[in-house]
Amino acid sequence: MAVERTFSILKPDATERNLTGAINAMIEKAGLRIVAQKRVQITKAQAEQFYGVHKARPFFGELVEFMISAPVVVQVLEGEGAIAKYREVMGATDPAKADANTIRKVHAKSIGENSVHGSDSAENAAIEMGQFFAGNEIVG
Ligand code: CMP
Repeated sequence: MAVERTFSILKPDATERNLTGAINAMIEKAGLRIVAQKRVQITKAQAEQFYGVHKARPFFGELVEFMISAPVVVQVLEGEGAIAKYREVMGATDPAKADANTIRKVHAKSIGENSVHGSDSAENAAIEMGQFFAGNEIVG
């Protein structure tokens, strides 16, 4: 399998509970390398753009408000099959349905406050990385 990069967000419910280190440990234990990382307060416009695909969903407004409610940590993760691997490490969107020992099973509070985001495809990973990182900020 090819070495890939994926985009990750440690969401406000995670940063507020000081879980950055605990979640990063789970990411690194799975063999993914954190090749870029910064803590940012995202704007409403950035959150609306990032989650634009969900604009028509009933939870869109709540999702945007949550994502700007506290700082987040944005990351680029690198590794063999990183996109699928990170989705495995995160677990299902709804923590009640997530497998044991996944980030969401261990740490998420609810389907909305679910601690982490990870890209769902190579195409979206490229778009999402480009929204938050300049190429020279990613050091593999
Ligand atoms: P994420 O992987 O970041 O992508 C879209 C997000 O929408 C998802 O994680 C959840 O946090 C959020 N989401 C999905 N379904 C719901 C829901 N039913 N209610 C609230 N938020 C949701």
